[in-house]
Amino acid sequence: MLVNDKSYQTVWMEGTSVLMIQQNLLPFEFVIHECKTYWDTCMAITDMTVRGAGAIGAAAGYAMAQAFLLSNSKTRAIAIREARQDIEHTRPTAKNLFYAVERVYQAGLISPENAKIEAQRVAAKDAEDSKKIGEYGNTLLKKSANILTHCNAGWLAFVDYGTALAPIYLAKRQGKDVFVYVDETRPRSQGARLTAWELFNDGVPHLIVPDNAAATLMAQGKIDLVIVGADRIAANGDVANKIGTLEKAIVAFTYGVPFYVAAPTSTFDPECKTGKEIPLEERDPDEVLYQTGIDANGNKIKVLAASPGSKAYNPAFDVTPAKYIEGIITEKGIIKAHHQAIKKLFDESHT
Ligand code: MRU
Repeated sequence: MLVNDKSYQTVWMEGTSVLMIQQNLLPFEFVIHECKTYWDTCMAITDMTVRGAGAIGAAAGYAMAQAFLLSNSKTRAIAIREARQDIEHTRPTAKNLFYAVERVYQAGLISPENAKIEAQRVAAKDAEDSKKIGEYGNTLLKKSANILTHCNAGWLAFVDYGTALAPIYLAKRQGKDVFVYVDETRPRSQGARLTAWELFNDGVPHLIVPDNAAATLMAQGKIDLVIVGADRIAANGDVANKIGTLEKAIVAFTYGVPFYVAAPTSTFDPECKTGKEIPLEERDPDEVLYQTGIDANGNKIKVLAASPGSKAYNPAFDVTPAKYIEGIITEKGIIKAHHQAIKKLFDESHT
C-alpha cells in the first residue's frame, strides 16, 4: 500500500532483522520499527507494535526464522524450542500466528535459511490471499454501497491489501460509489485510528461512528452490508474477532443487514469444533480506563477517562455464532459459515 507515495508492506524481513510499521504510533506518527532478535519481535507482537491476524502471523513466522538464524549452534535445539514457546505466548487468539510458527518451525528443521524462505512464503501468501479476498468481496458490492466495518481488518492487519477493506479499495478503484462507517472507537480505537487512517490515505469516503451507533444506523436503513475480519474461525463457522463484533452481528441479523466475515484459510482452525474452544485474549484494564492521543500542540498524552479508583475489565475478543453470518469471504471464494462448507474448503486445499 502507498504511504506518502511510497509502497509499504506492514511487516517484512531484511537480513536477520524484522521491520514493521509501528502501528501503536499511528495515526499520529509513521515510523518503521526494527526488531533485531526473535525476542524483539515477540515484544512487538505483545505490545501491538504489529497487530492484526495476518500481520502478527507474518511477524511470528519471521520471529521463528530469526530464532533459527541467530541461535548458537551448540544449544540450538533447546533454544529453538524455547523461542517457539515464547512466540506462541505473545498473543493467544489469532490462528495465523500458530499457523505461521508451525510452518516455519518445520522448515527450519532442514536449515535456518529454509526457515527464512518459508517465513517469506507465509508473508507473501498472506498478501496474495488478501488480494483474492478483495476480488471475491467486491462481487458483493453494488454500484453504490454503504458498508459498516468494525476494528481494523485493512492492509495494516495483514501483510498487504487487508481482508474486510480489500473489497472496498478494489470497488473504489473500479469507480463504485462506496461509503464506509467505521467503528471500534473503544477501547483501543483501532477503527477510529487505523481504519480511518487507511481509508483517508486512500481517499475512501467514510465516517467514524461511536461503537454504540451501529444499531440506529441499521434501523435507519443506512447500512447495506457489514464486513469484518476474523482472528480465528472454528470448524462450525463461529468467528472470533475484536470485541463488539458479536453485537454488530446480532443487530445486523435483527435488521436483515447481511453480515460478512473476510478471512483467509490460515485463520480457520478445524481443531476448534465451536467458538467455545477459541482462546480469547483479555488485555490490560488501563486500555479501558485511559485514553491516549495528542493534544492541540501535537504532544502525546494519556488521560484518565473514567472515575478515579474504579477498576475495569477488558475482554479483547468475542465470538459471533455462525447463525448470524451470511457468508465468509475467503481467498478461494465466498462460503457459508457452516461446518460442511468449511470441511469442503479444507478438503479441497489438501487435494
Ligand atoms: O487486537 P488486534 O488489533 O490484533 O485485533 C485483531 C483485529 O485487528 C481485529 O479483530 C480484526 O477485526 C481482525 S484481524 C484481521
